[in-house]
Amino acid sequence: MSDSLALIKGSEFARHWRLRADIAYLNHGSFGACPKAVLEVQDSFRWKLESSPWRFQVIEMAGHHAAARTALAQFLHASPDDIVFVPNATHGVNTVLRSLSFRRGDELLTTNQDYFACRNAMEFAARRDGARLVVAKLPFPLEFPEQIIDAFLAAVTPRTRLALIDHVTSPTGMIMPVRELVSELGRRDIITLVDGAHAPGMVPLNLHEIDADYYTGNCHKWLCAPKGAAFLHVRRDLQEQIHPLAISHVAGEVAPPLNPFQHEFFWAGTRDTSAYLAVASALKFMGHLVEGGWPEVMRRNRQLAVDARQLLCEALHIKPPCPDEMVGAMAALPIPPAAALPDPLPPYFVDPLQEELFQRWQIDVPVVYFPRPPERLLRISAQIYNSLSQYERLAEVLRDRAGR
Ligand SMILES: Cc1ncc(COP(=O)(O)O)c(C=O)c1O
Repeated sequence: MSDSLALIKGSEFARHWRLRADIAYLNHGSFGACPKAVLEVQDSFRWKLESSPWRFQVIEMAGHHAAARTALAQFLHASPDDIVFVPNATHGVNTVLRSLSFRRGDELLTTNQDYFACRNAMEFAARRDGARLVVAKLPFPLEFPEQIIDAFLAAVTPRTRLALIDHVTSPTGMIMPVRELVSELGRRDIITLVDGAHAPGMVPLNLHEIDADYYTGNCHKWLCAPKGAAFLHVRRDLQEQIHPLAISHVAGEVAPPLNPFQHEFFWAGTRDTSAYLAVASALKFMGHLVEGGWPEVMRRNRQLAVDARQLLCEALHIKPPCPDEMVGAMAALPIPPAAALPDPLPPYFVDPLQEELFQRWQIDVPVVYFPRPPERLLRISAQIYNSLSQYERLAEVLRDRAGR
């Protein structure tokens, strides 16, 4: 096999990112990656803050904040009055769960494909209130999205009070039938909290249509905003119940453009809000990268993920583990179990294959243990800076290793 680095070059758009040119970065889903131009805009907000701290914080920031919130709301098909910025989806989920309270014996429903931090927040809320955490076992591999709905609803009981629904799952990278789930659960009077960490910028989003009670999503993943930018959308009639983890300096204010709910979040002490303020510029930058704008960016990324998955399935001699319609810009593939793993796994343990792919082949791609170690999945991401040849290279390496 050739060791030529030319084989792992990204697409023509890679020059807009700061990603290392000697690494094939197939891991956008983990933490996102922000284009240089957007980082420059973020930096310009930091300059403004540091060159005139009082004036920027007290007078000027509100206008930039409103512009960012309005642009984001438009993108999400939501009202700017129903959205607040939070630093990340972990905060979004925690904000809801720490604001609500449950009764002893209530059931909080999550799934075996949820994200660690959000599972921890659900466990915390359940323990705090004497509620029970119920974990629905979702199938993977699977053939139809309806199997997800059936598995979810099979775990519902008359005591279910709240359900956490991942819009795009973390370990398996699947788009969930979120509209149907919200509607089915809502009909049963179950509070719906959607963890849309990956959804904005990966799939077309219409929060109005989804109509969840609570929806949180990251801007720093697929929207390519700087790290530390996310939102929480709260349905209008529920906003009085939701409070930030730190009550803001201007809580209690009623003056527009913010409503009382938003004033509670707006000024959570002195901090760097430049990531929020740069969200409008991320939306604009990504939306102008290719003809066709955002819909075309999402279409390309999805197509790349589907094509790359096909290549890898062929290399691994497996069938695609979920239908194409459930693939957004990530895809997970079952790979043979890890040979010898420490038990229990130490914190921050990196799978030996993931480490080998990075160290020996300069391919950054995560290996996750699912449903439990040593069973594992390889999860690829496809962002516009990636090229098909990067996945071809990965397929070639995997084929070669299997034949050894
Ligand atoms: C489904 C899901 N939820 C929540 C998160 C947490 O996102 P953040 O670290 O930005 O809070 C992630 C991160 O990858 C995720 O995959």
